[in-house]
Amino acid sequence: MSKKYFYITTPIYYPSANLHIGHAYCTTLTDTIARYKRMQGIETFFLTGTDEHGEKIQKNAEAKGVTPQAFVDDIVKGIKKLWKDMKISNDHFIRTTDEYHVEVIQKIFTKMYENGDIYLGNYEGWYCTPCESFWTDTQAGEDHICPDCGRPVHRAKEEAYFFKMSKYSNRLMEFYNNNVEFITPESRKNEMVNNFIKKGLEDLCISRTTFSWGIPIRENPKHVVYVWLDALFNYVTALGFMQEDDSNYKKFWGDDAEIIHIIGNDITRFHTIYWPIFLMSMGMRLPDKIYVHGLIMTKDGKMSKSKGNVISPNALIDRYGVDTLRFYYVREVVFGTDGQFTPEQFVERINIDLANDFGNLLNRTVGMIIKYFDGIIPEYQGQLTDLDRELEEVGKIAIKNYHTKMDSLKVNEAYEALFTYISRANKYIEESKPWVLAKDPEKINELKSVMNHLANALRQSAILLSPALVEAPEKLFAQLGIEGDLKEYRTVNDFNLLGGQKVTKGEPLFPRLDPAVEVEYIRSLMTSK
Ligand code: ME8
Repeated sequence: MSKKYFYITTPIYYPSANLHIGHAYCTTLTDTIARYKRMQGIETFFLTGTDEHGEKIQKNAEAKGVTPQAFVDDIVKGIKKLWKDMKISNDHFIRTTDEYHVEVIQKIFTKMYENGDIYLGNYEGWYCTPCESFWTDTQAGEDHICPDCGRPVHRAKEEAYFFKMSKYSNRLMEFYNNNVEFITPESRKNEMVNNFIKKGLEDLCISRTTFSWGIPIRENPKHVVYVWLDALFNYVTALGFMQEDDSNYKKFWGDDAEIIHIIGNDITRFHTIYWPIFLMSMGMRLPDKIYVHGLIMTKDGKMSKSKGNVISPNALIDRYGVDTLRFYYVREVVFGTDGQFTPEQFVERINIDLANDFGNLLNRTVGMIIKYFDGIIPEYQGQLTDLDRELEEVGKIAIKNYHTKMDSLKVNEAYEALFTYISRANKYIEESKPWVLAKDPEKINELKSVMNHLANALRQSAILLSPALVEAPEKLFAQLGIEGDLKEYRTVNDFNLLGGQKVTKGEPLFPRLDPAVEVEYIRSLMTSK
């Protein structure tokens, strides 16, 4: 059974450079789930933000000759604009430089220290600045390479505070065993257990002294808090944890809430080992699920500025519109495994589903209602034909599957299910042949039923597309003259509600893209640095 409240988060991204289509994928996926929950009437809080401290940001700022604060302020402005342009419906945007966050992190550090989980020692080992992560001699290996990202690590030797990770490893395993879906997909859990927990958790270094861009530890201000400890707690500081107004914290981090963190597989260890252990140390509840998506690669591997294969989401939405990119993410990108972005697949997916199937269904339906019924969606009486019944059956199954998949967060499969209905509706036109029915006055009721069923299939589809598509459903409703309750989610299972609405021919929602032109265009984005 659904809990009363739903809390969903994206990672807070590093404002070390502008975001690319990988970040926008994660945020769109999260946004779609948040919108789906709200559509179902569940009180939802959706959080995103930026992770602004650490050595990497300080170095990037120094390289540009500006202060770290000025550096991040500039990039964060662009990130906020991107989410606005993509109609991301986050309820709050946290920046780890926000005063409330800084203060609470300091309090958290003190509390963990007082609990006896933190001690002062000396760190000697390796550090990967791009990942902001510590590695032992064995992990860094003879080549001194970061096991996560494959880039060179550097030697670090400094006085540091340590957190007693090992103290919690049995409790963590027990938690995994009692909550089998905590880490989804399961393969990620096995990786964590085999690569880290079974080998024995080492105490974690949680402060740095060789640079200053971080949250100072009140008791010993030459230390700044390790950026991952600072960052992970954003999920609760943003809700008001340890602050005067903690009403959101009580609701969305309480027992009545379902809590889901969406992350990419590059940061699984931090979210599935460190984060639960930190929460245990604080005596706080743990999230329900860490939902780990794969990374979007390009033909030549991971996107990186130096390779010149970074694709900006801004460029894609400017040319194709926000719904096109959002749809590509939720329909084409398979959850859980790394996938490759290719311009060919992008164009093809949009052409097949949005232009041919969905857009075309709307155009044809509106055109026929104008032609045969002066633009008024007809009501029908009497018996349904076999074709009508079949269409309704496919619709019922598709809607049911959509829900089952969405409820288990399999967003791409939910939209795949919905499109079986949309494709079937196109086929239904071919099979019922309205142009033949229109010639026979005795078939008028059949013709009415076909038009009504088509308009209704579009209505239902638009409702279920609305968590993913933020512009097209309203345009569709406007073209079909659908208003009020009929746009509401609670009417989605009804196959016979329309009649009397006046349709209007509008612009095609998704014009067909010319692959020859668009594939080249997208390629040019990938090569422009
Ligand atoms: O790791 N494909 O921030 P980050 C898909 N600040 N998703 C991608 C991606 C790609 N190619 N590249 C990045 C951090 N992402 C920390 C997080 S959370 C407390 C702190 C997405 O800017 C994906 O969700 O490096 C990944 O986990 C996240 O961005 C990492 O963003």
